Amino acid sequence: MLEPAWWQRGAIYQIYPRSFADSDGDGVGDLRGIGAHLDYLSDLGVEAVWLSPIQPSPMVDFGYDVADYCDVDPTFGSLADLDRLIADSHARGIRVVLDWVPNHTSDRHPWFLASQWSREDPRRDWYVWRDGRDGGPPNNWRSTFDRVGSAWSFDRRTGQWYLHSFTPQQPDLNWDNSAVEAAMHDVLRFWLDRGVDGFRIDVVHKIAKDPLLRDNTEAARRHDEDWATIHDRVRGIRRVVDEYPDRMLVGEVYLLDLHRVVSYLNTGDELHLAHNFVFLHLPWNAEAFRTSIDDFQALAAETTWPAWFLANHDHSRVATRFDDGGHGPARARAVALMLYGLRGTPFVYQGEELGLPDADIPPARMVDVDGRDPERAPIPWRPPSVAGPGAGFTPGEPWLPLVVDAERLCVERQAADPSSTLALVRGLAALRRSMPVLQTGAQRCLEAGSDVLAWLREGDGERVLAAVNFATVPVPLHLGAELPRRARMALSTDPDRADGEVDLHGLALGPSEGILLRL
Ligand code: NOJ
Repeated sequence: MLEPAWWQRGAIYQIYPRSFADSDGDGVGDLRGIGAHLDYLSDLGVEAVWLSPIQPSPMVDFGYDVADYCDVDPTFGSLADLDRLIADSHARGIRVVLDWVPNHTSDRHPWFLASQWSREDPRRDWYVWRDGRDGGPPNNWRSTFDRVGSAWSFDRRTGQWYLHSFTPQQPDLNWDNSAVEAAMHDVLRFWLDRGVDGFRIDVVHKIAKDPLLRDNTEAARRHDEDWATIHDRVRGIRRVVDEYPDRMLVGEVYLLDLHRVVSYLNTGDELHLAHNFVFLHLPWNAEAFRTSIDDFQALAAETTWPAWFLANHDHSRVATRFDDGGHGPARARAVALMLYGLRGTPFVYQGEELGLPDADIPPARMVDVDGRDPERAPIPWRPPSVAGPGAGFTPGEPWLPLVVDAERLCVERQAADPSSTLALVRGLAALRRSMPVLQTGAQRCLEAGSDVLAWLREGDGERVLAAVNFATVPVPLHLGAELPRRARMALSTDPDRADGEVDLHGLALGPSEGILLRL
């Protein structure tokens, strides 16, 4: 087997900086807070961290509205703090990936302020300005946020409409203008020169749109994203990143069609990795998971490397989404086993390693334009009974309420409990590190009945059988005769499951149990 790249070896851990750890007591997480918890990240065995945006921002979309691409927002610290975080992370072998938001800026970005100033301004064409149609917006494109409605806002001063795929405070850049492309490439170089190891590209599929701005129709493919020009644009981005050794691009390719997703990967000169939202949107059903995993593999080129994730800062957490009457905690453990056991890079959103559920946010505390506050609640580090209501996240008033059960779910409690979800995820990371077959081995899904997802990893004389029971009752493992009768339990999500040799013929999986067996 080839030596895997760092971004293939182990997990990439998503940090949502506002909610990770607050060092200065203002109730909002910051870079020094992250720096103070590098031991935690080392113990978790993460290969890299991806930081959601830290650049200066009016925070209308909590950092996804960037007002200066080449600085750090004072809420999070300074460029010097980031340099230190990168150096300290690298000293521990942890790579640092930044979020890059190329589709839109903040409406406070100097580029947009100039663009908005007059039709003659040289920056006018850096954004998408058009005359209206029949007294309304130029076309029928809608914002991704339902609450916003039309993707166009009228600007009184210059009498034209500008495009915004998200909030009106996030005007879309015009990537058909080569000056925009060049400026955004320079942003990448700015961070690469500072030692950043890669980028997560926010809504990358949106930086290419129909230049004729034709209406979207029900049946036809959308005109406001994933236009044919996208592939040259992504290639251009890749060329910049390839000017530097060993860097990585992961794209938020939010397209619910695997053919489209793999088209950003299969050419080999575009993205290294893509977030697969088809997978994220699956119901809790073994057949659905199997089909989706097989489909990806069937469509992927030989050299295409999968990435697996089921949570981020935009979606209800696994323990809540798959709870269905109390099964959430066990299913969150099974999910962790899947992410680390499948062939591909696991992406772990902060708090998933603790099995956190969504927080209950009273309406008066809701601050996000799209209602995503519950999955963004701060990390509980210490029991509130000891550390106060900030639970070790902050000595002050947290910007969002913490999860109800912070006392039991906090890091300190879980770190001391060998049966905790945190202990499980640490174990999975350690196992993956010690077993090359889990990193690079080939993969094949097996017939295992309608409730069990089972797959084999094989390579260099090692074989691992993985299985997850999606049912809420015990299910006997029925696998083909090709497998040996005896195997060794390497890890189970059930802390009471004994290690050692097992008879595959008599083996039953507990409700929501996941196992890894050495064959
Ligand atoms: C995707 C990000 O994950 C989300 O949080 C943000 O609102 C949109 N892109 C717009 O940047």
